[in-house]
Amino acid sequence: MIEKKPELNDALSTKPGQKIFKKNPILGTKFTIAISSAKGGVGKSTFATNLALALKQIGCKVGLLDADIYGPSIPKMFGINEKPKSDGQKLEPIKKYDIQCMSIGFLADQQTPMIWRGPMVTSAIKTFTQKVSWKDLDFIIVDMPPGTGDTQLTFSQEILMDGAIIVSTPQEVALLDVIRGIKMFDKLGIKILGLVDNMSYFIGDDGKKYKIFGEGGVRRTAEEFNKEFLGQIPINPEVGTAGDNGKPIVEENPNHEISKIYLNLANKIKSTYLQD
Ligand SMILES: Nc1ncnc2c1ncn2[C@@H]1O[C@H](COP(=O)(O)OP(=O)(O)OP(=O)(O)O)[C@@H](O)[C@H]1O
Ligand SMILES: [Mg+2]
Repeated sequence: MIEKKPELNDALSTKPGQKIFKKNPILGTKFTIAISSAKGGVGKSTFATNLALALKQIGCKVGLLDADIYGPSIPKMFGINEKPKSDGQKLEPIKKYDIQCMSIGFLADQQTPMIWRGPMVTSAIKTFTQKVSWKDLDFIIVDMPPGTGDTQLTFSQEILMDGAIIVSTPQEVALLDVIRGIKMFDKLGIKILGLVDNMSYFIGDDGKKYKIFGEGGVRRTAEEFNKEFLGQIPINPEVGTAGDNGKPIVEENPNHEISKIYLNLANKIKSTYLQD
């Protein structure tokens, strides 16, 4: 039997007797920023890891929370194989590249499929936000799973989030999902910092720009919905290789053209939230 998932609108409805959700901040950080997209495989985890590393490189204290319970990516992208320590009350984040990290993948075998049900996902998210000893952070970057499901609902209802960045690729089919994502965050009252156009183009050996997935759609969508367009990130095989090898491009080569894009963005985010 297929279980009915709670709908976004159920949670947001103003029916009498509606549950009022009290939002808790994640303790140990000044700001929490979600990296999201309604569509899968557009590069959220790649973006989240590299943005976290870029923020660190410009002097911020950063945590990385892998909220993808069904398909965690941070253990692989950061090359982490250890299990977090616990004092019986709280879990200790694992520090790698000077970033405090937490992922369900640290606790479960990476090969084990996560066939968790909604309530378990909700409780995992609560654990990661309330029972991890995040320490003295400026930012926690949250790598969201694709979609608008249980994780997004739990976060938006219960956790105080300071902003969201929506990542997309330029295909029309991805853009439809972007619009769903924009509407979700708007409805939930979470500030959208902007839209990022990932895998926008590829520069061939001949030096030409190939717009494999089309052009301009993410910028157009941003304009249409009055959101900021945060820029393009080209397709570059080194980005994938670096992620696969457990050392994202920004850490591996801070002078890479892609790393510079992330560093610019990090500076922008830092100046939005933190005063020097
Ligand atoms: N700019 C880029 N250039 C080349 N490869 C990229 C780029 N961005 C992401 N990738 C690759 O695309 C694949 C998907 O990226 P990633 O896992 O970050 O997507 P995701 O949106 O987090 O996926 P999911 O929805 O499954 O969580 C990865 O193999 C990654 O290395
Ligand atoms: Mg991911």
